[in-house]
Amino acid sequence: MRDTYYITTPIYYVNDAPHIGHAYTTLACDVIARFMRLDGKRVKFLTGTDEHGQKVEKSAQAAGLEPKAFTDKVSQNFRDLAKAMNFSNDDFIRTTEQRHLKSCQALWRRLIANDQIYLGKYAGWYAVRDEAFYGEDELRDEGGKKIAPSGAECEWVEEPSYFFRLSAWQKPLLEFYEKNPDFVAPTSRRNEVISFVKSGLADLSVSRTTFSWGIPVPDDPKHIMYVWLDALTNYITAAGFPDVESADYKSFWPANLHMVGKDILRFHAIYWPAFLMGAKLAPPQRVFAHGWWTNEGQKISKSLGNVIDPHELVKQFGLDQVRYFLLREVPFGNDGDFSRQAMINRMNNDLADKFGNLAQRILKMIQKNCDAKLPAPTEKLAAEDVALLDAAGQLLDIVRTEINQQSFNKALDAIWLVIADGNKYVDAQAPWTLRKNGDLERMNTVLYVVAELVRRLAILCQPFMPESCGRMLDQLAVPPSERTFSALTKAHALKPGTALPDPAGIFPKFVEAGSAA
Ligand code: MSP
Repeated sequence: MRDTYYITTPIYYVNDAPHIGHAYTTLACDVIARFMRLDGKRVKFLTGTDEHGQKVEKSAQAAGLEPKAFTDKVSQNFRDLAKAMNFSNDDFIRTTEQRHLKSCQALWRRLIANDQIYLGKYAGWYAVRDEAFYGEDELRDEGGKKIAPSGAECEWVEEPSYFFRLSAWQKPLLEFYEKNPDFVAPTSRRNEVISFVKSGLADLSVSRTTFSWGIPVPDDPKHIMYVWLDALTNYITAAGFPDVESADYKSFWPANLHMVGKDILRFHAIYWPAFLMGAKLAPPQRVFAHGWWTNEGQKISKSLGNVIDPHELVKQFGLDQVRYFLLREVPFGNDGDFSRQAMINRMNNDLADKFGNLAQRILKMIQKNCDAKLPAPTEKLAAEDVALLDAAGQLLDIVRTEINQQSFNKALDAIWLVIADGNKYVDAQAPWTLRKNGDLERMNTVLYVVAELVRRLAILCQPFMPESCGRMLDQLAVPPSERTFSALTKAHALKPGTALPDPAGIFPKFVEAGSAA
């Protein structure tokens, strides 16, 4: 087992302001990165921006700026988003950086040395929006226009071009998928990839000559590299390539997981492993293709004017509420619909009424009845106390299994089942009645058991809601050094007698703007 974990997001085109789709992909990676760190791994979590190519060049022209000035400006929006969403990326790569130029040219040279690239002429269809080549048979006619399956309009391109011998990789790729059944997930996507490869692969045009915003081909700078070859290479650049002997490269490549949206799976699951194998480099271990968000049932698009701004969502509902909602609401891998009502329901029901309330009601009782100090439980716990703590004790293994499958919603379901158990326990034990009846020993035990349960839940939920869970752990006076998953054992249980700060609600209910709180 490696003690390192390398996870990447796609690098985003800088032609646009970041929206909920970008935030979603990076959030999923952030949760995994945080989980792995808390679980004791050395993590590299990479995100960044894809700044070359025709699409970005055109956007720069439209904005009246030189491409470099334009990309400097728009790339910053993605760094701002990372900050606003509390993303914990260890690196942010821009494809206009020198380290990346060096890496791309080195990869190209390796491909040439291995006879994977030859000079020819491209004549065919190209969609600038997708930065992708399409075969005639993939396109439909719409009023004289050629439209790709993605909806992007194609143009006819004819120019000298270098080609990558993709056709030669059909068989090795199929063998690779066979030997590595977890390489593409979910399974339905894996099947799509396999049937696409089975249907035959044509050699791929990997350079362009009709514009110049890109990385020059070594020894033939009239050509610039195809933007997808340039972009995919970012994943090894950030691991130190071309220095394959560096500690960074040795520790982190191959990446454990490339997280992508379903729209760009073909590039990651077919072209990328073929490029790498062609260069005699290891392919990544896994590519997960998640689904797309719609807005109140409609496709999100600039022209419909229904783009969801993540900054706006955070302002309305709170950061951790949005983080929780996006990963809880939809089985990861499926498409999801953003609905304001669903967001409010999750915020009020799951967070305020269930998790928040569990913590809040016992913390308040401890403050009032136990002199604001953690009470001591009796030596011998009752069967229901043990059952509840055992359920919490089993959660780490369950959650780890789900996170390793990128099943965020299942991980959260499992945690929320235990939260529900906790609330049922409090209702059944009724510590307020125990106090009224003078059974202070049992009341202390019940309060202690729930406080310990909340400690474990808050530690486990940190990857999803780092800030709120941090505050919850502050309220239990858990020191920062006691917040990793190694503290999820009895030996690290709360110490009776510890003074607790004043409790304050962590998960507020949604209040309609303008109405009285
Ligand atoms: N630059 C390429 C990726 C190169 S990776 C080597 C690119 N960029 S992009 O800006 O278009 O970002 C695409 C990614 O954004 C998708 O794969 C997906 O991760 C995310 N999303 C964009 N819109 C989305 C939704 N509506 N819903 C969910 N995610 C979507 O492609």
